[in-house]
Amino acid sequence: MRQPWGLLMKNPFKYNVLVTGNDFCDRENDIQELVEKIENSVNVLLFSRRRYGKTSLIFEIFTHHLDENFVRVYVDLFGINNEYDFLKRVAKGISASNLKKGIKARFKELGKIFKRINFSLGLDQDGQPVFKPEIKQSDFDECFDELFDNFAAYLEGQGRQACFVFDEFQQIREIGQPSLEACLRTKIQFHTHIAYVFTGSKTHILTDIFIDTRKPFYSLADPRELKPIPEHKFYLFCAQRFQRAKKELSEDAFALIYKLARGETRFVQKVCHYLFNEKVKAIGQDDIYKVIQKMNLENDAPFKMLMQTLTANQRLALKILAEEQKNLFSTSICSKYSIAPQSLRAALNSLMDKMLVYRDDQQYKIYDVELEHWLASQA
Ligand SMILES: Nc1ncnc2c1ncn2[C@@H]1O[C@H](COP(=O)(O)OP(=O)(O)OP(=O)(O)O)[C@@H](O)[C@H]1O
Ligand SMILES: [Mg+2]
Repeated sequence: MRQPWGLLMKNPFKYNVLVTGNDFCDRENDIQELVEKIENSVNVLLFSRRRYGKTSLIFEIFTHHLDENFVRVYVDLFGINNEYDFLKRVAKGISASNLKKGIKARFKELGKIFKRINFSLGLDQDGQPVFKPEIKQSDFDECFDELFDNFAAYLEGQGRQACFVFDEFQQIREIGQPSLEACLRTKIQFHTHIAYVFTGSKTHILTDIFIDTRKPFYSLADPRELKPIPEHKFYLFCAQRFQRAKKELSEDAFALIYKLARGETRFVQKVCHYLFNEKVKAIGQDDIYKVIQKMNLENDAPFKMLMQTLTANQRLALKILAEEQKNLFSTSICSKYSIAPQSLRAALNSLMDKMLVYRDDQQYKIYDVELEHWLASQA
């Protein structure tokens, strides 16, 4: 698609990256409430199913909705394996924050704040400068204290507030260090000028961390669920982007995309991205099914590989979920698929542990919308 000056019009729908600014749709209420909490140093637990937009929302707030002087620390805990990884990620988050403008000034400041942690300058995979922290295994306790105490004292001395985000916080449970939660609590509860935001999608783990009265994190953060973007707001956002390329998306057509996405923000963006590339002026239902078919074909190899990692009963349970909505354990369904109700239940529970299935309103559902569509296409 060419613009008047001959340049290709870039596809405005983005689905594998964080979105902020012009690429970010709505979330006005979420932003307002979160900013209010962050400004008042109230800790928040932000949770939703995967790919609803938690990380994008955090970056939207960091980029456009906090006072310039507010220190923003983003700590991604995805894939950490032990408590040293945890510390390194925290140190990395602090070193990448807006502590000071300019890399040299920040380097100097980090040297003043931290004595036990050395930061060396390197390049990330995009060639951007990043600080790499060095933490000696023997110094865990001292480094832990230094990271949290010295940083909080520094902020206080500067009269600055901060927001500290732990993304994918449930990962803390997967490193087998239960004492880490208690240690963290002892720090966090005294930091009255820092708002801690914990995000994640494994709700059963997060519930256990934050809602269980016997656990250190009990009532340490206000829980807030991120819901799907409201249909009409999302429709206007998408239709406007199609319009700029002289394509028409009717509200009815969008309703189908929205229904097929089952609330997942990324899926809507991906379908629209594919539709944008199609040579079609007025988008109809057939076009939508066509691009979903295309996505299914592209997903064929990775999903077949995933299926190979499952047991026969787990594969059957997914097939049943893709084909049947209700009464999964009824005699008619179990005999139709030749599986005993207790075996089906066991298979579904093991699929829940693998995050392939979740429970909502007492019903089992397939977690990944693209997997669900692919399974349906295999019927
Ligand atoms: N406010 C938004 N407006 C438009 N698209 C959005 C918005 N938020 C998220 N998206 C879309 O959803 C995708 C996933 O967003 P993001 O990575 O922020 O979700 P997440 O909830 O953090 O996912 P995960 O649980 O996998 O970490 C983005 O790449 C983008 O396509
Ligand atoms: Mg995320």
